[in-house]
Amino acid sequence: MFTEKILVSIAGAILKHYKLDPDGVHGIAHWGRVLKNGTELAALTGADLGIVQLFALFHDSRRKNDWLDPRHGARGAVLAGEMNGGLFSMVPAELAMLQDACIRHTKGFTEADITIQTCWDADRLDLPRVNISPVPELLCTGPAKEKFFVDQARQRSTANQLTGFAIELRKTIA
Ligand SMILES: [Fe+2]
Repeated sequence: MFTEKILVSIAGAILKHYKLDPDGVHGIAHWGRVLKNGTELAALTGADLGIVQLFALFHDSRRKNDWLDPRHGARGAVLAGEMNGGLFSMVPAELAMLQDACIRHTKGFTEADITIQTCWDADRLDLPRVNISPVPELLCTGPAKEKFFVDQARQRSTANQLTGFAIELRKTIA
């Protein structure tokens, strides 16, 4: 797992070449909520927290627009590979899992390793920010389908809440 300070550093490096508005629907606030959702879910699912944390930062990091951009996950995966060995180091199996989670995160899959499922759920639970309710059929893990969890995530999402991570990251680009 990574400390918030390291995650802010990694995200800061990602943002240097981020093409969209950092305050947009796929920007900093979303990364922070996916990070929070994923961290809470990983404690219940047993997912590899480090991979879930980095998924939050990389999965939308190379979007070219906020609408249809089917290759953005793959580009995020490439970026993760390029940055590996710098501010963070993952062994090949960890990197491969992170990249797989990024590449397939918008394809509607639900069957995968528990770490990848946790990544996807963390992202999908933040769909209310764009007026989409995450349907249970597209959530992968048991904890993510629980009403309490869905409701908590929905509240954060619809309020476009900034997590502590997001607040710290915004300071670096202010
Ligand atoms: Fe996302």
